[in-house]
Amino acid sequence: MCGIVGYIGNQSAAPILLDGLKKLEYRGYDSAGIAVMNNRTISVNKVSGRIANLCEKTNDGKNVKGCIGIGHTRWATHGAPTDINAHPHLSNDGRFAVVHNGIIENYIDLREKLIENGYHFESQTDTEVIVHLIEKYYDGDLKKAVLKVASKLEGSYAIGVVCADEPDKIVAVREYSPLLIGVGIDENFFASDVTALVSHTRNVIYLEDGEFAEITKDEVSVFDSTGKKVEKTVSRINWDIQAAEKGGFEHFMLKEINEQPGAVKATITPRIKDDTIDFSESNLNDLDVNNISKIIITACGSAYYAGCAGKYVLERLCRIPVQVELASELRYSDPLIDNKTLLIVISQSGETADTIAAMRECKERGAKTIAIVNVVGSTIAKIADHTIYTWAGPEIAVATTKGYTTQLSILYLLSLFIGKKLGKVDDSQYAEYLDEIKSLPKNIQASLDMNPAIPAIAKKYHNAKALFFIGRNTDYAVALEAALKMKEISYIHAESYAAGELKHGTIALIDDHQPVIALCCNEALFEKTISNIVEVKARGAEVLAVSFEDNQKTAAIADDVITLPRVNTIFSSAVEIIPLQLLAYYVAKENGCDIDKPKNLAKSVTVE
Ligand code: F6R
Repeated sequence: MCGIVGYIGNQSAAPILLDGLKKLEYRGYDSAGIAVMNNRTISVNKVSGRIANLCEKTNDGKNVKGCIGIGHTRWATHGAPTDINAHPHLSNDGRFAVVHNGIIENYIDLREKLIENGYHFESQTDTEVIVHLIEKYYDGDLKKAVLKVASKLEGSYAIGVVCADEPDKIVAVREYSPLLIGVGIDENFFASDVTALVSHTRNVIYLEDGEFAEITKDEVSVFDSTGKKVEKTVSRINWDIQAAEKGGFEHFMLKEINEQPGAVKATITPRIKDDTIDFSESNLNDLDVNNISKIIITACGSAYYAGCAGKYVLERLCRIPVQVELASELRYSDPLIDNKTLLIVISQSGETADTIAAMRECKERGAKTIAIVNVVGSTIAKIADHTIYTWAGPEIAVATTKGYTTQLSILYLLSLFIGKKLGKVDDSQYAEYLDEIKSLPKNIQASLDMNPAIPAIAKKYHNAKALFFIGRNTDYAVALEAALKMKEISYIHAESYAAGELKHGTIALIDDHQPVIALCCNEALFEKTISNIVEVKARGAEVLAVSFEDNQKTAAIADDVITLPRVNTIFSSAVEIIPLQLLAYYVAKENGCDIDKPKNLAKSVTVE
C-alpha cells in the first residue's frame, strides 16, 4: 500500500527521498512523487508508474534543489493511478504540500464545503482535502493548523506536511496508519516503514495514534492530539540494511524462502529455555489457561491460512474449540465473545486494517488478546494484551513466505505451552513435541535441499489454465496457502479443495491433463487422500504428489513427486509449504511475472 517518507537536514533531499521510496516499492504502488522545498518554494514532481520514471524525470533527484522534502508511493484507492492523482498534493496558493497514507472517509463532505469556500481541486483523491484545509486554517503556525485539520478528518491517516512559510520543519501526524521518525545527527526523517530510513539511522521513534511530530533538522518534538508535549523513547532497530537487500538472490521472494531455516530458528530459540517453553518476554507464563473456553484466531490472507493450520495443532494439543475467522468478516459479524475467549491475532506487518479492526472489536467485548506479529512497534503489537514477535526480519517480497512459517512455529509453541498447562499433554509427549519443534529449522532446510527438480516440474505446469491443490486436515490447510502463493505471483488460477469434497461438485472440473497437486503428509488420512488421487487420475488428471521422502506409494501412483523429510504430522505444515512456495516461485518465473511485486497487490494492506 502507499508509503511515505520525509527528510530534513543538510543534504540534498530529493535523492534521499527517491532512495527511501525505492525501499518502499515492495509495499505495492502505482504512482510516486516528491515535493522538495528550496528558498521557500515547493517544487513537486510526480508520475504514474514506477519510481524509475520519477528518477528519470528528476535526473535521480539531481535536478531538484532543497534540503527538506516529502515523498510518496501511491496505491490507488480514490481516483485512477494518474500523474495528477499521485501525491504530494499542493495547496491552491502553492505554500503547502501534503503526502498521505490511509483513507479520509468524510472527504466528500469536506470537499463540497471547500469548493463552496472557493477552493479548487485538481485531483480525484480524498487526500487533496487535507492540503486545502491546512491552507484554510493556517494562521502562521503549521502545527496548530495540522492539529485543527486532523480534528476534522475521519478515517485513517499518516500525513506529512511542508509549508513554504516555515521552511525549517516538517509536521507529521498519524491516526490508524503507521508512522515513525528516524532520528539522525543534524538530520531527521520520517517514514511509514522502517525500511525507508534504516540505511540512514537505526534510531527511531514510533508515533502512536493521534500523535503529531514537529521535525526540524536538529530536533523532534512529539505532541498528543490536544497539543500537549509527549516524551517519547528512541528505539533501536536491530537489523541492518543488508537484511532488506537481495544478497545475491534473483528475487526477494527466493531469498526469503531460503531464509526460513534461520528465521524459524531465530523465532523459536529464545522461547525455549532448559527444554521448557518460556513466554515470559510476552508476559504469558502466568496465562490463566483454565479460564479459556474457546480460542478465536483472526487474520487476513496467508496469516489467516497460518491460523487454519494452527487450529489443528491447538485443538489437538489443548482440546479447546478453535474458530479461525477472516478479520474482514469477524469485524462485522457481531461476534460471540466474552472474557473466556482467547483471541489470537496473526499479522506479519502488524498494520493490516481489517485485522486491527477485528481485534479492537473483540477486545471491547472482553477477549484476551495474543498477537503474533513480525514488525516491532506496529499497531497490532501495541494494542494486544500480549505480543509474541516472529523474528523473521524484514519481509520485502509481497508474497509472504518466512512470515507464514515463523507464524506457524509460534502457533506450535503456543499450542504445546497451553496444552501442557492444561494437562492435556504429558511430560513425555511434551519432550517429544518440543524436540519436533526444535528440529523445524533442520527439516525446513532439508526440504529446501531435497527438491532440485522443482524448476523442471514448474516448466511442466506453467502453462496450465488452472491448478488444483487437494489435501485433508493439515494438508488441506497447507493447500490453502499453496494455492494462494500460486495465484498471487504466477496469476494462474489455483484452487484448494478439501480432498473429501471433490466428489461433491469439484470433480466435474477434472479432465485430461488437468494438473492436481495432492498433499499427502497427513499420516492418519494418507490412504483417504490416495483414494482421491486415484479418482482424479481415473478422469485424466496429472498428479503431482507432495509426500514424505520414504513414502513409496505416492511415487508409484503420482506422475511427479515432491518430497519432504519425515516429520510428525502435527507439525508438518511448516515443512510441507516449503517446496510449494518454490513451485509457485518457479512457475511465476517461467511465466515472466514480476515476482516480488505482483500486480494489484500491496505488502501491507492498511485500508479496509
Ligand atoms: C500473501 C500475503 C497476504 C498477507 C495478508 C495479511 O502472500 O502476504 O495474504 O498474508 O495481507 O498481511 P499481514 O500478515 O501483514 O497482516
